[in-house]
Amino acid sequence: MQYDRLLDVNDLTIKYNIEGNPVSVVDGVSFFINTGEIVALVGESGCGKTQVALSLAGLLNKTAHVKHQVSNDIKTAMIFQDPLNALNPVMKVGKQILEGIRNKDEVRSKKKEVISLLEQVGIDEPEKRYNQYPHEFSGGMRQRALIAMALAQKPDLLIADEPTTALDVTIQAQIIVLLRELNEKHGLSILFISHDLSLVKSFAHRTMVMYAGKLVESASTKTLFNTPKHPYTKSLLQVASLAKENDSFITINGSVPDPRYYPSGCPFHPRCDVAEEVCSNTFPKLISDQGHNWNCILE
Ligand SMILES: Nc1ncnc2c1ncn2[C@@H]1O[C@H](COP(=O)(O)OP(=O)(O)OP(=O)(O)O)[C@@H](O)[C@H]1O
Ligand SMILES: [Mg+2]
Repeated sequence: MQYDRLLDVNDLTIKYNIEGNPVSVVDGVSFFINTGEIVALVGESGCGKTQVALSLAGLLNKTAHVKHQVSNDIKTAMIFQDPLNALNPVMKVGKQILEGIRNKDEVRSKKKEVISLLEQVGIDEPEKRYNQYPHEFSGGMRQRALIAMALAQKPDLLIADEPTTALDVTIQAQIIVLLRELNEKHGLSILFISHDLSLVKSFAHRTMVMYAGKLVESASTKTLFNTPKHPYTKSLLQVASLAKENDSFITINGSVPDPRYYPSGCPFHPRCDVAEEVCSNTFPKLISDQGHNWNCILE
């Protein structure tokens, strides 16, 4: 399939002042997203996925020092893990979605449009639902309402940060079906952040892997899962499949370091079984092979 480029991010770096010292939590991350693509961003907890997402959505904390070049001026909307916290408990759901439209100075700030959005995200009896409060919605319905709120802003890119983590598996599947439908029918581009690799495998067109503030590998989802190149990606996939086989919680040996102590060289080298001397002092150059990109000297 031939895609148009929607977004180019070049050398995104996010720093915070921690105890008087500048600390990078995201370091030199470059990637692109094409129109109509679902791109997943994966990596262990604390790798910087949400920081990347928040910076694209313009929602980073004011204390963040951001250096990047985003070459495209696009509209983004973001949905989060916890739909209840993202909704105002004392405002009717329909009204909240309406605000989303108004905030963007859209003229057609009509109730009808909100009702049709509620319908589009699979909320039954949208007229009745319009006048209800968030507590009258189930968890899955709240996430649908938030997706409607995001769509009200007519985004070029929907950023979904673990949108189904707080939901049970059946509801999770329904939300994924909805997101896929929005992608397929309306060409909605999606940046999808998740810890659920089997979900990523079935949902995303392309997958990017982050470790300790750096992007270490990206490829079409099929290529990445079939022929991972970076030892970190290999470990991630291995523990995910072991965990599934044994129906238990298995992790990669060791843990993601604190950003204050990110190792020099390849940040994964202290946990890497095949690391060599050079890995501790040089971050490997990007290797590209037909849309498959990785930073490791060993392949
Ligand atoms: N305001 C802040 N000040 C200092 N450090 C921060 C701030 N916000 C986030 N961080 C740090 O940035 C790093 C990356 O955090 P981020 O939330 O992006 O991780 P993540 O990959 O989304 O993790 P998870 O999978 O748990 O959601 C973490 O070490 C976090 O502590
Ligand atoms: Mg996160």
